[in-house]
Amino acid sequence: MTVKTAKSDKDFSIYFQPPSYKDAKKRGKENIEVLYDFNIPEEMKEFGQGKRYMIRTYGCQMNEHDTETMKGMLEELGYTSTEEKQEADVILLNTCAIRENAEDKVFGELGHLKHLKLEKPNLVLGVCGCMSQEEGVVKRILQKHGHVDLIFGTHNIHRLPALLQDAYLSKEMVVEVWSKEGDIIENLPKKREGMRAWVNIMYGCDKFCTYCIVPYTRGKERSRRPEDVLAEVRDLARQGFKEITLLGQNVNAYGKDFEDISYSFGDLMADMRKIDVPRIRFTTSHPRDFDDHLVEVLSHKGNLMEHIHLPVQSGSTEVLKRMSRKYSRELYLDLVRKIKTAIPGAVLSTDIIVGFPGETDEQFEETLSLVKEVRFDFAYSFIYSPREGTPAAAMEDNVPEDVKKERLYRLNEVLGAFSKESNEKLRGEVVEVLVEGESRKNSEVLSGRTRTNKLVLFKGSKDLIGSFAHVRVTEPQTWLVKGELVAEPLQMLS
Ligand code: SAH
Ligand code: SF4
Ligand code: F3S
Repeated sequence: MTVKTAKSDKDFSIYFQPPSYKDAKKRGKENIEVLYDFNIPEEMKEFGQGKRYMIRTYGCQMNEHDTETMKGMLEELGYTSTEEKQEADVILLNTCAIRENAEDKVFGELGHLKHLKLEKPNLVLGVCGCMSQEEGVVKRILQKHGHVDLIFGTHNIHRLPALLQDAYLSKEMVVEVWSKEGDIIENLPKKREGMRAWVNIMYGCDKFCTYCIVPYTRGKERSRRPEDVLAEVRDLARQGFKEITLLGQNVNAYGKDFEDISYSFGDLMADMRKIDVPRIRFTTSHPRDFDDHLVEVLSHKGNLMEHIHLPVQSGSTEVLKRMSRKYSRELYLDLVRKIKTAIPGAVLSTDIIVGFPGETDEQFEETLSLVKEVRFDFAYSFIYSPREGTPAAAMEDNVPEDVKKERLYRLNEVLGAFSKESNEKLRGEVVEVLVEGESRKNSEVLSGRTRTNKLVLFKGSKDLIGSFAHVRVTEPQTWLVKGELVAEPLQMLS
């Protein structure tokens, strides 16, 4: 395998532009450009005619939504989708770099796909998403996975049509990963399915928590203009979507990068409340930027759902300091009290990392005591995974593996008990459920979510899919609640 080198950024022919951590770390003052002129070139509109694509998505909602954009572009090129690897002419792996096990899965899949590529030499195999932004990953693919045809980064998604063309024309690996923060490209096509839609309100992250790879893989924090976000949500409402989730790594920092206007996430949510769409959610909130104005706006509920995902990461101020989270245990607890007082019935979920470098038994106990104080309704818990190039990767990883596992186990016991307790409180209650589809295990059972994002299973007719149902909770469990349909239509409960 050989690779060609680009002569300049403007050289759109086959080229090789690998990621650079040095550049990804930079945060410049230059303005972010918003581009509204994305178009699939006329001559490429038949490019995918008669061909099939498949995209495997790993990681968070940001990646899920990027996949919708790539699907949108591929379908405008004439491709149709398939779920069968054997049938696909293009396979893209949209990858996640957040922990080592996320990366292991992708390398495993690349190993399997080697056989398929040998059988089908014309198959185009591409790797995109957060792993492509990592120097080490791209080197490893170049050295050990020469059967990959295309690598492109999170800032290069809009370049997919041109890159695919290059990948077909070339017998060499095409690599295009820009490490400088991308512009905002507004009118990319998107293929959305179902009744729920994701909408990016911002890209990137400037928080640089010391364990986290995201600021390097997603670039500088940059907010979409409010008029563009509101227009997209209004359009989705008109199309009949029932639930919109606003996306950002730290939605509370929304608007802080605007120089010409003063408009915060609280202002955006206040404007969202005026749009005729039944449910608005958002993720993820960073405790540091969660201001009183936002709490006040959310307290009016309506179409703003009373579920807040508020990652705490640790209950020890000392560990939080080394994680560079920029808040203390006390500040977090104050914020939780504020939210619980202002928004009755608010459901809080969180993310927690155990075994951060230097975490002592006492510091881990502080995490347990914080969990007991807040009584989270649900939570995601992780063992710390060192990410190359982050500040924490240079700290001594001195918590033994079995201690990390034991801490995770103990934490999950406590979290599970609170999840069960919080679901138990719903016994006998009637909840409003947006019916999403058939349950995975039993096609006679429907599944949906409450305003507070709890999973509900109940028996009912498939006609209910895509609408709201009222369900009486009869069997609360730890991770979901079971219930029965209330025959009489009730008033909306909000
Ligand atoms: N932007 C979000 C988090 C995105 S990543 C926030 O700041 O809250 C989702 C979660 O993965 C994080 O909240 C954290 O708990 C976990 N995580 C991130 N990096 C990790 C690492 N190196 N090891 C283990 N867990 C990690
Ligand atoms: Fe990562 Fe911290 Fe940014 Fe979240 S806020 S994406 S944890 S750096
Ligand atoms: Fe993973 Fe990238 Fe999301 S690292 S969690 S896919 S932003």
